[in-house]
Amino acid sequence: MHRSSPPSASRPPLPPADPDALAHSERLSAHLRTLIRQNDDWLPFDQWMEQALYAPGLGYYAAGSAKLSPASSGPQVTAGDFITAPELSPFFGRTLAREAARVLTACDSLHVLEFGAGTGRLAEDVLTELHHMGMPVRYSILEVSADLRQRQQARLAPWQDQVEWLDALPDAFSGCVLANEVLDAMPVKIVGWIADSEDLSTPAQPVEYGIALDDDDRFIWQARPAQATLATRIEQRLLPYPGYRTEINLQAEAWIGQMGRWLQRGAALLIDYGFPQHEYYHPQRATGTLMCHYRHHAHPDPLLLPGLQDITAHVDFTAMADAALRAGLDVSGYTSQGRFLMNAGLPELLSELDPRETALYAQAVGPVQKLLGEAEMGELFKVLALSRGLPASLQGFARGDRRHTL
Ligand SMILES: C[S@@+](CC[C@H](N)C(=O)[O-])C[C@H]1O[C@@H](n2cnc3c(N)ncnc32)[C@H](O)[C@@H]1O
Repeated sequence: MHRSSPPSASRPPLPPADPDALAHSERLSAHLRTLIRQNDDWLPFDQWMEQALYAPGLGYYAAGSAKLSPASSGPQVTAGDFITAPELSPFFGRTLAREAARVLTACDSLHVLEFGAGTGRLAEDVLTELHHMGMPVRYSILEVSADLRQRQQARLAPWQDQVEWLDALPDAFSGCVLANEVLDAMPVKIVGWIADSEDLSTPAQPVEYGIALDDDDRFIWQARPAQATLATRIEQRLLPYPGYRTEINLQAEAWIGQMGRWLQRGAALLIDYGFPQHEYYHPQRATGTLMCHYRHHAHPDPLLLPGLQDITAHVDFTAMADAALRAGLDVSGYTSQGRFLMNAGLPELLSELDPRETALYAQAVGPVQKLLGEAEMGELFKVLALSRGLPASLQGFARGDRRHTL
């Protein structure tokens, strides 16, 4: 099961949390209640998500829970909360390494920078493949979670001469940037339109959703009029359907804006689930894309079990491409993950397998089908390439480039 695992219509109850986990969640809840009271009794959702995921020592990514499931858990995974492409199959990282090698050759660099490296699995596969290709790269990792950084350091110990961890964005960088499922983990604003139910002649108003406390100190949703800059974004992107509710990821746009300052030469390959803006804000997607993951159960309520569950939103790739153009970067490719992997060399890598070794072959090919399958990760996940000063076009987008849909 991967991070876009669908919520079931009749949702089964979430697995029970053990007493230690509940006590941990209660500590984070107390911290959130304090912040709400200090902030005029209302915390905008992006600040809630920031704390729920990243509050030092308390947030989902900042504390020691398992989070990502290792692929070796098998099909009946129970450890962790979700599984990502690098954890599913080494062929994901190996194929990405092939594309990274082309970027590095084109910009005459031997430097890779990965954001949000999770368990370090992608880094391990990319380093291994580039090593086999005779490219001894320097591999920098920027990871906001101290807990995951420790796990990465343990896994990547055999590569210690090549790997380093950064504490802040670089001032300048030339090479290949990788970020798998990082944009979707950045805190989003929840926004929408609300009409006055008493006076139907009044037009709907743009609102921002945040969290307040009821009389019993329980977390509740509360909408407030959107501030001027946010209201403008809402008006530009969403049709004014009363009751429409969705997300805007200003933090991811700002992150790409910063990339415009530090990426001097090379390309960033950003892989995540999402769509172009016209699909993201489609009238039928009236409750947005926010999703939570707890022990392989997907559900849409981020106020449950703070600190114990992952919270994520799909990516509006048009907004990401626009932010890149505003920052002076080129948008050099956009396609589905399935297309990208096929273009970038996955078939050649698979051809190294011997189909007569049936058990090993099936073990390798099954997860690859998940990476490629239209009903699995192949279509929902996209790859966006942002670049500067790259003389060559990228092979990963040679067929099926969909930039025209952004
Ligand atoms: C869903 S996990 C994906 C992990 C890994 N890339 C994978 O595919 O298995 C999201 C990762 O992004 C990290 N992250 C979130 N925001 C980040 C940021 N602004 N800079 C660097 N890492 C970030 C999280 O700590 C976590 O490691």
